[in-house]
Amino acid sequence: MKKFYITTAIDYANGKPHLGHAYEKVLTDVIARSRRMMGEDVHFLTGLDEHGQKVQQTAQQRGIEPIELCDEASGDFRGLCRDLEISNDDFIRTTEDRHKKVVRRLLQKLYDEGRIYKAEYTGYYSARIEQFLRERDQVDGEWPAEYGEVVEITESNYFFKLGQYQDWLVEFLNGNPDFIFPRFRGKQVLEFLKEPLNDLCISRPAERLSWGIPLPFDEDYVTYVWFDALVNYVSAVGWGEERFESYWPADFHVIGKDILVPPHAVYWPIMLKAAGIPLPKSLLVHGWWLKSGRKMAKSTGNVVDPLDLIGHFGPDAFRYFVTREMNVGQDSDFSLELFMSRYKSDLANDLGNLVSRALNMIGRYCEGTVPAASLEEEPEKELRALWEETRKSSAELYADMQFHVALEKTFAFIRAINRYAEIRAPWKLAKSDDDADRKRLETALATLAEGVRLSVVLLKPVMPGTAERVYRLLGLTEVREWERDLEWASILEGKKVSAPEILFPRPKTEGAPE
Ligand code: MSP
Repeated sequence: MKKFYITTAIDYANGKPHLGHAYEKVLTDVIARSRRMMGEDVHFLTGLDEHGQKVQQTAQQRGIEPIELCDEASGDFRGLCRDLEISNDDFIRTTEDRHKKVVRRLLQKLYDEGRIYKAEYTGYYSARIEQFLRERDQVDGEWPAEYGEVVEITESNYFFKLGQYQDWLVEFLNGNPDFIFPRFRGKQVLEFLKEPLNDLCISRPAERLSWGIPLPFDEDYVTYVWFDALVNYVSAVGWGEERFESYWPADFHVIGKDILVPPHAVYWPIMLKAAGIPLPKSLLVHGWWLKSGRKMAKSTGNVVDPLDLIGHFGPDAFRYFVTREMNVGQDSDFSLELFMSRYKSDLANDLGNLVSRALNMIGRYCEGTVPAASLEEEPEKELRALWEETRKSSAELYADMQFHVALEKTFAFIRAINRYAEIRAPWKLAKSDDDADRKRLETALATLAEGVRLSVVLLKPVMPGTAERVYRLLGLTEVREWERDLEWASILEGKKVSAPEILFPRPKTEGAPE
């Protein structure tokens, strides 16, 4: 069976993990986990981009070897994945042999087939972004500050014949409007391709940059950043080996909008085409998290690092927040106030209280065993109808990458269960001696428990820890797959539930926001 293969960008090793990295991993994880729930055999890759000038320079400044810096970063980024409960199957580092080997094999193939040539090149070079710039990158005759120092240099280098594939790429993009999600990003690529495409310089003289993969056909050069980094998507799954066929083409490359044009939408498709490797099925391009300093400041004036929130409130609260607030493709502002309000109202209040209420009442009125639902009156009918609608729309929303709306609907269902509890008022029914009321009471408790169960099954891709915890509290073992577990059923009948636990407590850690 072909795997559902999904990747994130690989992060630069010379920086610390930040909100943007965390978001991308969560987004990809939500897709990976939801696909597993749909029965797909998922392979989820993330990793670290370790070569290049910046790593070499940073290591030099710190008086350590580049690989030491990368080892440190690898610890930090793997730590981030662990803290966020990211379910990646693999973590690739571009300094690993398995990667270097494939990069060299690919370069050799393209060189042998005449797609790479050597030429002298004079251009304006920015060491900060490790790229030659174009005249039109200037603003009013000046190089913008983001490029740092820009110097004119002449050197011999190797070039990849990018330009000759321009017409092919335009045609491909026009014929495959779903290649890039959201679609408006595809239009930006076509806009970029209106200008003639230059061949791509793919090397750096080793004397200037030693921290890279040597070209197999000229060891005086190392390959330049994109030809190294992009190849991770195929090196990790063994391009050239038999197993490659069961992974490739990738189903999604998840990336941020800054690395769509030109790397992922122009260089990568052309590199693959030239090498005779099929293209990935789709690029999923997310927007950026912006941080307004004002909003991130606590009343005391301290600025909160969003990643600290994982420690204070747990991975699921963080995962919920970024998935709930970001409309995939758009930008979003990270605000602490909003985080706290979602934590308190959606998680602690709507979901957390519902779970403890349900468990409490089952404990009090049914000795901790979920009773049978023997009636179906108007309140039950309404709740069930809402569930069927929620379930159906969730499937569509997941397919359309509308995770924020899917969560909104799930929480609308959770609030409806809370309202159902108010309407049925089991605490009142418990006082009645009437047989019909006893049935209503039992039905209400069974319905509450089933509503809770279904909600957490639906929430599992976003809040895996919470889903499993609630499942155990309900006397069940493991959330497995959506087709079966999202069915309104009576599997809880006769199950012994646990005493309630506080799922979303006030943070105890010092320095946590209130
Ligand atoms: N190493 C390259 C990618 C190579 S992929 C073959 C790189 N690394 S990065 O560390 O700068 O960025 C990694 C990912 O994080 C990118 O997809 C980028 O868009 C994303 N983000 C970086 N800052 C971000 C935000 N503020 N918000 C959301 N995502 C952002 O680029």
